[in-house]
Amino acid sequence: MLNGEKKIVKPLRWGMVGGGRLSQVGYKHRTGALRDHTAFQLVAGAFDIDPERGRDFGVNIGVDADRCYPDYKTMFAEEALREDGVEVVSIATPNGTHYEICKAALEAGLHVICEKPLFFTSQEGEEIKTLAEEQGKIVGVTYGFSGNQMLLQMRAMIEQGKIGDIRVVELQYTHGFNSNDKSDKTSDAQKWRVDPKVAGPSFVLGDLSTHTYYMSQLIMPHMKIKKLLCDRQSFIGTRAPLEDNAFVLMQYENGAVGRLWTSSINAGCMDGHRIRIVGSKASLEWWDSKGGELKFEVQGEPAQTLIRAMPYLDESCNADERLGALHVEGLSEAWANIYLKFAIAIDAKKRNDKETLKHLVYPDIDAGIEGIRWIENCVRSADNGSVWVEFQNKKALLV
Ligand SMILES: NC(=O)c1ccc[n+]([C@@H]2O[C@H](COP(=O)([O-])OP(=O)(O)OC[C@H]3O[C@@H](n4cnc5c(N)ncnc54)[C@H](O)[C@@H]3O)[C@@H](O)[C@H]2O)c1
Repeated sequence: MLNGEKKIVKPLRWGMVGGGRLSQVGYKHRTGALRDHTAFQLVAGAFDIDPERGRDFGVNIGVDADRCYPDYKTMFAEEALREDGVEVVSIATPNGTHYEICKAALEAGLHVICEKPLFFTSQEGEEIKTLAEEQGKIVGVTYGFSGNQMLLQMRAMIEQGKIGDIRVVELQYTHGFNSNDKSDKTSDAQKWRVDPKVAGPSFVLGDLSTHTYYMSQLIMPHMKIKKLLCDRQSFIGTRAPLEDNAFVLMQYENGAVGRLWTSSINAGCMDGHRIRIVGSKASLEWWDSKGGELKFEVQGEPAQTLIRAMPYLDESCNADERLGALHVEGLSEAWANIYLKFAIAIDAKKRNDKETLKHLVYPDIDAGIEGIRWIENCVRSADNGSVWVEFQNKKALLV
């Protein structure tokens, strides 16, 4: 169980690019990183595309005025001159800016925590991976939901053979907030999401399903996709070629099959993620709207609901427990778990502690690149008439 005691020798000096006053995701980063005060200290930021608003916001959340910068280039240059300059920066800006900011941060000698989808192409991902290796830095990706410890319980039970051989994988991440085009006209955060120049080659496949795809890999690290077929639609026509709904069928290398539904036009839906894994003996099912519960259904026996924080759960699951049984946890704790792992990874990298890095499970640069590959494969299938395509891995994409 986590109780806030330090996991690394000294908190990391942390800065943010983006995540300002009006941003959707900025506060989630701060609740995650600053939860324990022993992992990160927020010391600097270029919080906003509008320098004045960014400065005012930074001061209001307690950052020294002279460390609230007008843009990321000034921030990296000025902080490099300080003995107590930032060591790690989080990038919480629209997708189209991730690559250039990430590259500049690594070149400035900083560790990076970046939003998903990481970049537009896996080629960019490989370039940044090489740069990070050369600089000896960590790049983490904020698949925030994946910090929910019940996913580690699923991982442990699958590894222990509790459900038998996996046959069917059902994944869903949908909401209905874009059921009409109103927000495309009125919300800054939605306008860029349907603009390919800023969002990249997809809307919901990148915005939503990269989370779910990573979570499925976390739960079933041995399951590799062999082929997929993606059918994507733009129910609001002005969003084309970007999709507001998509279905993906998957065939895995071990013969299992899967399907994923991602959508922002699932009117009225407030459930978010659903993950159901069907094995030869039993099934596991988790919904993020009841994130502290895990359904375990053994064929021929009464269904069980496993509850967060209980001693019968796997050690790996309870190690990420923060509040204890009866006290409701949620997304903030999931983000805090992810950020704590980023801190442990960065600290281990600084000390060249390869053993810790080898065993630490967190969304790293490879998970970010894998998310881009997921989008690339889905778009390739959809745009060729929704046909089955071989899932192209790193080797195939780089030749
Ligand atoms: N991990 C998650 O659960 C999650 C949730 C929402 C969004 N996201 C991702 O986070 C990123 C941001 O999404 P959002 O919904 O918060 O966007 P948003 O439009 O709500 O906010 C973007 C923020 O970045 C600032 N900004 C833009 N360009 C900048 C620049 N060049 N320098 C400094 N600041 C800049 C804006 O002023 C604003 O504060 C996207 O990549 C998105 O996919 C992730």
